[in-house]
Parts: sequence; structure tokens; C-alpha cells
Amino acid sequence: MKQSMVWKTPACFAILILLSSNAFAEFSKNLEGYRIFSTNCFVCHGADGTGNGPLADKLEDKPADLTDNTELSKLSDRELFQIIEGTAPHGEVSSAMPKWGLAIPHTQIDSLVSYVRYLHSAKYPVSGNPLKGKEVYDAYCTLCHGNGRGKGIITRLYDMEPADHTDASAMNKISNEKMHSIIANGTSGSTLMPGWKAVLSENEIKDVISYIRLISAK
Ligand code: HEC
Ligand code: HEC
Repeated sequence: MKQSMVWKTPACFAILILLSSNAFAEFSKNLEGYRIFSTNCFVCHGADGTGNGPLADKLEDKPADLTDNTELSKLSDRELFQIIEGTAPHGEVSSAMPKWGLAIPHTQIDSLVSYVRYLHSAKYPVSGNPLKGKEVYDAYCTLCHGNGRGKGIITRLYDMEPADHTDASAMNKISNEKMHSIIANGTSGSTLMPGWKAVLSENEIKDVISYIRLISAK
């Protein structure tokens, strides 16, 4: 009897760790996708994904607007992967779109699929640089918001409930403008969300908003 207890406890922990690291894998996939997109794809598709990159005018076929979900939302992840990899059935995508499978590993294409999904399904446009936003977040927000879920170390000392920034339905209720004002000025009343306008620049606030958008995306 005792032996089986010894066995079960580590097994439970292992499952918990697996579950939580899976969710982390999702956040970091979107962020990794952003990083690869901004080095390899922006030149044609533009930093915001709308297809207006610096090279766009020089191409015969206009790069796709990756924020337009009318066609893209019909594609499965597998089809999107093949389009980026360059193995989609002939004629399905313009030959002006490079075959990325020749240059980057599959794991990176997976992250790009997540980010392209984010681009055409996010409710609010990408407002800044989420990689810089992560630095801001790690420096100023984790004390209370933890890794995004609102369970920072200070919640063990004070009775407070910082917002869960990974909760898509809660975050989608707040527009970029509203979120900007919450971060700059804090929330009113007795809640303990401070204002950051004396600490963060306007751009840093945009960056941290774009990071929150990425970690709350499914
Ligand atoms: C040299 C320019 C160029 C670069 C760089 C580029 N693309 Fe494209 N992309 C295009 C063109 C042109 C199309 C075709 C548009 C069409 O057929 O309507 C396209 C189409 C696509 C499509 C299909 C959209 C649809 O509606 O079917 C996806 C997805 C895509 N690109 C993702 C990416 C990703 C991810 C990267 C970076 C790894 C990337 N592209 C880099 C030019 C480019
Ligand atoms: C001292 C603790 C603390 C720190 C540090 C902190 N927050 Fe908060 N934050 C809170 C609390 C508490 C709430 C919940 C407030 C409420 O419900 O009105 C909150 C809520 C929020 C909300 C959502 C408000 C809503 O209406 O749901 C956003 C967005 C937010 N914080 C962003 C940030 C960002 C970005 C940073 C770092 C620059 C940050 N917070 C740092 C405590 C903190």
C-alpha cells in the first residue's frame, strides 16, 4: 500500500508539469512564429501581415493579405503548413511565394502556422513588437501577473486577483485603446493595478499589449 502511494505522487506531478508545459509551448510557439515572420516574411507580407512589405511592389503577384480570414480560415493547419513549406498542390499558391521547406526546419514552419492563424483570427491588430513586450512584461508585470495567468509571487502576500492575461475571452473584451489606458493609468478604486505611464514609453505599452494578445491567443 505504502509503495503505491510513493509511486502515485510523482506521477501526478509529472502529469501536472506536462499539462502546464503544453500551454507554455503554445505561447512560445506564437512568439517564435512572430520572430521568424518578422525576419523572413515581412519583406513581402509586411510586418502587420497585410501584404504591403517593401518588396511587394516589385512582384508580379501581390503577396497575400494574411490578416484576411475569408479564405485562410477555410484551410486546415496541414494545408497552411504545406503552403508555407512549398509542397501544396501545384497551382494552389503563386510561384512568387518561396518554398520555405528548403530553408527552414519543420518546427519553425509549425510556429509560423500558429502565427499566421493568429494574424487572421485575432480580434485586434498587432499593435507593437511582442518580443520587446515580453521583456517589459518579465521586468514589470510578473510580480503580480506571474507568467501571464495572474498568479505572481505577490498574490501569496496580498489578497489580490491580478487579471489572467492568458484568458482569451476576458482579454478580447478589452480593445487595444482601452488596454493602453489601463496600463498607462492603472485601474481605479481599491484594485491594486498600478499605472505605468511614468515608467513605460508609449511604444513599450504597445509592445506589452501585443505580447498580452499573443499569450491570450488560442
Ligand atoms: C518574396 C515574397 C514573399 C515572401 C518572402 C513570403 N511570401 Fe508568402 N506569399 C507571397 C506571394 C506572392 C503569395 C501568393 C499570393 C496569392 O497567390 O494570391 C504568398 C502567399 C502566402 C500564403 C497563402 C495565402 C493564401 O491566402 O492562400 C501564406 C500562408 C504565406 N504566403 C505565408 C508566408 C510566410 C509564413 C512567409 C515567411 C516564412 C512568407 N509567406 C514569405 C510572397 C511571399
Ligand atoms: C502590483 C501588482 C500589479 C502589477 C505589478 C501589474 N498589475 Fe496588472 N493588474 C493587477 C491587478 C490586481 C489587476 C486586476 C484589477 C481589476 O480587476 O480591476 C490587474 C489587471 C490588469 C489588466 C486588466 C484589467 C481588466 O480590466 O481586466 C491589464 C491589461 C493589466 N493588469 C496589465 C498589466 C501590465 C501590462 C503590467 C506590467 C507593465 C501590470 N499589469 C502590472 C495588478 C498588477
